[in-house]
Amino acid sequence: MVGIYPPVITIDGPSASGKGAVSEFLSNKTGFNYLDSGLLYRLFGLEVLSQGISLSVLADDWSESKRLAECLEAKLVGSPKETKNRSFSQVSINGNGDARTEQAGAFASKIAKMPLVRRALLDLQRSFRARPGLIADGRDMGSVVFPDALLKVFLTASPSCRAERRHKQLKDKGIDVSLVALETSLVDRDYHDSSRRASPLKFLEDSMVIDSTDLDIVQVSYMIEKKMGDLLGEW
Ligand code: DC
Repeated sequence: MVGIYPPVITIDGPSASGKGAVSEFLSNKTGFNYLDSGLLYRLFGLEVLSQGISLSVLADDWSESKRLAECLEAKLVGSPKETKNRSFSQVSINGNGDARTEQAGAFASKIAKMPLVRRALLDLQRSFRARPGLIADGRDMGSVVFPDALLKVFLTASPSCRAERRHKQLKDKGIDVSLVALETSLVDRDYHDSSRRASPLKFLEDSMVIDSTDLDIVQVSYMIEKKMGDLLGEW
């Protein structure tokens, strides 16, 4: 297979399908860089709130989206050119409201509908593509951000399974949320993420589809790693 170096593996899918855990596992195992694009949208949303920018200004004013994307870029730590991962420090993630909460996710989903916001984050996301390769997780990684990815994975799981996983994650952090409310919020977010006009979450014909309802992180990662090995062997 002929492709552009460094290779990219995209992992797209609905909320709490295990994309993050699998991507981190694979990134640690292979030494590939890791882009958590959902975190970029979450942090972008928190900047919007902390800077008091109205949604109507954000939707129409390109200079605001561009400026906010530059603010995020300035908060990145790590080198863009080396094998070392670029990421956000815990201070950035927990700083102005924890980026990992359900509220931050719901607000991220809201601003992620805006074409100007998506455009402003495009170059920043692509700048994570560095040697020896990149694992990128999100909603439009394979369709828009890295359409030439070596391998595109669509990772899903049943809504109840995803709600249970997220419930456990939150509980481990000491956050108590009702399981039913969590499932409703995840299904609602999936609906918005897949029905919006700008870069919706969608299943791609050339994706490897994995339903992780009855699989754990190691099993899913093994399936992806095996496929990566087959493709990289032909690289
Ligand atoms: O993956 P996550 O739950 O952290 O993402 C939070 C929200 O950000 C998600 O509901 C939709 C948006 N998002 C997006 O629109 N495109 C991406 N590539 C990643 C996330």
